[in-house]
Amino acid sequence: AQLRQTPVCWQEDGPDERGTYVVSTYREIEALLHDPRISSDLRNCAQTGGRPRTTMDPYRFINLDPPEHDRLRRLAMCHFGPPERSEYLEQLRPEMLRIVTMLLDQVRGQRQIDFVERFAYPLPVTVICRILGVPREDEPQFHVWAEAIVANASGSSKEQRRQLEQAQSDLNQYMAELVERHRELPGDDMLSRMATDTGPEGRMADSYLVATAALLLVAGHETTVNLLGNGMLTLLRHPTMFDRLRDAPDLIPATVEELLRYEPPVQFLVSRTTLDEIALAGTTIPKGVRVTLALAAGNRDPARFPDPDRFDPERRDNEHLGFGSGIHICFGAPLARIETQIALTELVRRLEKPRLVVDPPPYRPSPSLRGPEHLLIKVDG
Ligand code: HEM
Repeated sequence: AQLRQTPVCWQEDGPDERGTYVVSTYREIEALLHDPRISSDLRNCAQTGGRPRTTMDPYRFINLDPPEHDRLRRLAMCHFGPPERSEYLEQLRPEMLRIVTMLLDQVRGQRQIDFVERFAYPLPVTVICRILGVPREDEPQFHVWAEAIVANASGSSKEQRRQLEQAQSDLNQYMAELVERHRELPGDDMLSRMATDTGPEGRMADSYLVATAALLLVAGHETTVNLLGNGMLTLLRHPTMFDRLRDAPDLIPATVEELLRYEPPVQFLVSRTTLDEIALAGTTIPKGVRVTLALAAGNRDPARFPDPDRFDPERRDNEHLGFGSGIHICFGAPLARIETQIALTELVRRLEKPRLVVDPPPYRPSPSLRGPEHLLIKVDG
């Protein structure tokens, strides 16, 4: 709310102590995310003198602009299932339900659990490993890399950078080998299809293929963990919600959307650079500077959402910014939605009288990815 008092403001202590313009109102964020004068390309970001805080791989399409971004995203999308044709993801429903059931079975009978450690954390990484075709025996190693990348991505110490680079290079090396193995012996998974298919647009070069696989793992991991963690926390802070959702599971998809608005895992987007001067809300943002988009502030903008600080799963017209907007809008949104819907459906069905043990819980240290590090809950059965 404080940020929104000046919709476009200069902050000295931005990423890398370089300073950044912070944009915090819904309309202005939307406008910028659709503006071709804003670049996500890391090479432009580096020219502003900054070290990009996000993952550094220049082959990842999240760090590229059109036309490279659009071509790579389309190539990946045709093996993942675009939202309007998501049969592939629909087919994965039973597998996702199986994983959710397995995780809940593992904590059955325990009166107190760390929800993040036992449920929110293992679910997304297991699901994305199945989608990509990572053999089950390698999954534990994936947890370690994903954790190391996310934990160190926003750190500025030498040791954190070293650990980040090490984890990324190990992950890329592993992915390169996996691509080779899938090419020789393709399975029914996304990586095999990307490695072998020669569709109308041709095949993705290996450097991009490896980077895309690593991107899907990293971009889809901590975000979904945090949506589940923030989601559980929010529901338990509204004590009637569990019973309400149990009685009316039809409300679950809208609840997931409201959670993405109310407690978005990605609080703000960094590493954008202006390619030209941009006039916005009475301020002129110069060319060649860093811009940060405060999605979480936009999601609580009273000019867009009536009574924005109220958690209301029955809210209408809920086009939140939780997945971003424009050409980089979250690639994995349909997966994250289905996964969270299945998880919530089972959680409200199976957990007896869950309640919080510690409120507020300890949060992860990342400034841009918000979510509890641990979430202790008590249950009756
Ligand atoms: C992009 C949020 C889950 C893959 C984004 C962006 C946001 C976001 C805000 C925009 C980034 C930008 O504009 O720079 C989330 C949230 C998730 C989630 C809140 C879970 C609740 C996933 C999953 C996957 C995924 C499960 C993978 C399967 C991606 C990719 C991009 C992206 C590849 C880059 C898209 C592009 O550059 O075109 N996500 N995400 N995300 N997300 Fe997600």
